[in-house]
Amino acid sequence: MKTPSQLFESFRARFGTASTSYRAPGRVNLIGEHTDYNEGYVLPAAIGFCCWVAAARRGDRKLVIHSENFKETIEASLDSLSPPGKKHWANYPLGVAWALEKAGKRLSGANFFIAGEVPLGAGLSSSAAIEVAVGFALLNLSGHKIDRVELAKLCQRAENEFVGARCGIMDQFVSCHGRAGHALLLDCRSLEFELVKLPAAVQLVICNTMVKHELGSGEYNARRAECEEGVRRLRAVLPQIRALRDVTLAQLEKHRGILDPKVFTRCRHVVAENERVMKAVEAFKREDVGALGPLLRESHRSLRDDYQVSCKELDLMVQIAVAQRGVLGARMTGGGFGGCTINLVEDAAVDEFKRNVSARYASKTGLSPEIYVTSASEGAQAVDIGQNNSLG
Ligand code: GLA
Repeated sequence: MKTPSQLFESFRARFGTASTSYRAPGRVNLIGEHTDYNEGYVLPAAIGFCCWVAAARRGDRKLVIHSENFKETIEASLDSLSPPGKKHWANYPLGVAWALEKAGKRLSGANFFIAGEVPLGAGLSSSAAIEVAVGFALLNLSGHKIDRVELAKLCQRAENEFVGARCGIMDQFVSCHGRAGHALLLDCRSLEFELVKLPAAVQLVICNTMVKHELGSGEYNARRAECEEGVRRLRAVLPQIRALRDVTLAQLEKHRGILDPKVFTRCRHVVAENERVMKAVEAFKREDVGALGPLLRESHRSLRDDYQVSCKELDLMVQIAVAQRGVLGARMTGGGFGGCTINLVEDAAVDEFKRNVSARYASKTGLSPEIYVTSASEGAQAVDIGQNNSLG
């Protein structure tokens, strides 16, 4: 990949001027899956892979955006923004401009050169990374103060209303607020958060199954609808609840009879997963890494059996991982139906873990997995090219 000074030079070669650089990270979720849109708790970390943008103001209201990954340049007017096409990469940057303007933030036109290093379609939030990086740049170039909570919400709005994906707030929020060496406990109702220090001798190892099942987004919306139905039914007997976040496992069991069996198991996943997040946070705070394994294992089992968002490749990847030395815990991460697993692996065991997991997964599936070793990283920031940080 490039260095920030190469990004600066690529921008100059294309647009003929100097630029300012920004970056925003992808994320991995340690625990708390499919809880964000139920107003619950999540525990993600920003990862070392970022979306990088070099940008400079223009004198008009045009956005000219070049994507290095897609080798394509698009132009749009800030006065008439609409999605260039279904699943088009430019929906994300244009959607953010649209959401910022809708929120009353008048923007100036800008030229952009975008280089993303978050693997695409792997469930590591390359879309949140591009949204946040572009949003950060647009606000900065247009002279607006950056409120990171508001930026995360507007990036989510861009994805919900402009791109057309009904995601929750987790990905954009941690891309804005991540901190090196920490995971972020987020209350998705109040948006209050707390940084949770991760053990120093443990790496976040992400295993990409290399499969992405097409049913993903339709099933995601179906799960959301099932959770909403659960809340609607439960309100008949628990009128004080607003979301599954407000329900306890005991209440759910007690009122099992009024729920469709499938809706019941979906709700059980969400309610139990919220409890697991809090237990995992306590374990990190006590530095009791031994307590994490059972929590991650139970999270995976619940996502597989109750929420039914895993797939055979994710199950296999977890099964192989937990049999390795030095593994504190493993589970699927992100929306599911393919993508990645998160593995907490002791430093000294990482190389052997990578070798063994790659070989076993490949021999059983015929697929070569990608394995990324990363540590928790900083959220979105402007980049001083003088620092000559590496992009690779
Ligand atoms: C996707 C969404 C998030 C979250 C996860 C599941 O990554 O973008 O908002 O719902 O799935 O935890």
